[in-house]
Amino acid sequence: MNVPNILNNPSLWQHQSFINNQWVDGKASKFDVVNPFDGQVLTSIQGLDLAQVHTAIDTAHTAWQAWAKTSAKHRATLLHRWADLIDEHTDDLAKIMTLEQGKPLSESTGEMGYANSFIRWFAEEGRRVYGDIIAANQPNLRHQVLKQPIGVCAAITPWNFPAAMITRKVAPALAAGCTIIVKPDSQTPLTALALAYLAQQAGLPAGVFQVVLGDAQMIGEVLCQHPTIRKLSFTGSTRVGKILMANSASTLKKLSLELGGNAPFIVFDDANLEQAVDGLIASKYRNAGQTCVCANRIFVQNNIKEQFVQLLASKVATLRVGNGLDKGVQIGPMIHQDALQKAQKLLNTTVNQGAKIITGGAVHHSSALALMPTIIDGVRHDMDIAQTEIFAPILPIFGFDNENEVINLANDTPYGLAAYFYTNNMARSWRVCEALEYGMVAQNTGLLSTEVAPFGGVKESGFGREGSKYGIDEYLTIKYWCLHIDD
Ligand code: SIN
Repeated sequence: MNVPNILNNPSLWQHQSFINNQWVDGKASKFDVVNPFDGQVLTSIQGLDLAQVHTAIDTAHTAWQAWAKTSAKHRATLLHRWADLIDEHTDDLAKIMTLEQGKPLSESTGEMGYANSFIRWFAEEGRRVYGDIIAANQPNLRHQVLKQPIGVCAAITPWNFPAAMITRKVAPALAAGCTIIVKPDSQTPLTALALAYLAQQAGLPAGVFQVVLGDAQMIGEVLCQHPTIRKLSFTGSTRVGKILMANSASTLKKLSLELGGNAPFIVFDDANLEQAVDGLIASKYRNAGQTCVCANRIFVQNNIKEQFVQLLASKVATLRVGNGLDKGVQIGPMIHQDALQKAQKLLNTTVNQGAKIITGGAVHHSSALALMPTIIDGVRHDMDIAQTEIFAPILPIFGFDNENEVINLANDTPYGLAAYFYTNNMARSWRVCEALEYGMVAQNTGLLSTEVAPFGGVKESGFGREGSKYGIDEYLTIKYWCLHIDD
């Protein structure tokens, strides 16, 4: 294992699964972790076999029996200690993330802060879990409600946010008194392992937080079908979410599914255009367009469209593409060849269907996987792109004439994760926010994610909420206690 010489603490560079606070070599086949910017193999990892995944589940169950009995205050202390270590090692963690994921270092550093905000938030939320005492309906009865940890949990997390999608599942689980096994995406396991290393250093007991690596299908099936696991949280595609839901049916597991999106970004003619352009760039080109909440369909009112596109194109032309480790780079490579090819195919189809490339469209000279930030105009609702989660730095512009028309277009998708709109008209703000069939709506800003607010979707974008005061409920069960007392 070659540790990159840019790390201050080489111990953060791990390449084995983390089970029962031990680094474990798998007994199944090997896979490589590759830097998407230059295709270099960063390390090779031996995947776990079925028996080893079962061991992790048994370990999590044993650990849960003790962890669930600890006080919320004790769990909070350990979580804050973990967060302190993450803060201390942010520079290294961000470099590891950029190496395996490709995103610019500024974004990786930002993601580490975002990831850590969930740990600190839920450390405190765990201390604010309340039950109820309900007014008795008979003189000799007393009714109480207890909230208890649901048990052993599992999380399957994506490559686009290698840290934050882990901590926003792990932190509420641990704070609630659950134990959790994480299966990170095989393209970005190194950030997860570095987080596990720091969790151990912070004193989290063995088996409370484990990371299992290997064949996604095999591990996914075990995590879904094993009766010991009471809760599964997944962030990823709608296609995979449906498979996990079907696989979890045999054990009626509680699920949180944060799935795909097709976010409308609506600009009305009374909006502040400069603000709208900046918000759009922040939303669309974050992580090279590879987020579930990226602006996907940009609807601009026809009477301001030309002016808007000109302003947008002038700003997009200044975005710097390249190696995420280089200072000032704003757009890194896409995650892999398939993702790039899918994006190029979609772009070609959209152009063949009549749209026009305003800027970008080509692969950048710095990396075989870096697609230049692209704007396409003249896009229509009957084109394939209108119903596709783009997941690439491609920004399609649609025109519209009035509010009713754009709301109907915005809602005409099976997805319902995030939606954005820009207007300074108060009555319209209420009408539009209420009419959009989305779990999250942002007005006059292109970024809405924070640990204090509920993140999640409706329709085929899934269910369950992460972050906020609601996020911990996903890891708790309600027990009704009916007590008969003698006179
Ligand atoms: C995602 O793309 O799945 C998460 C984005 C975020 O948390 O902002």
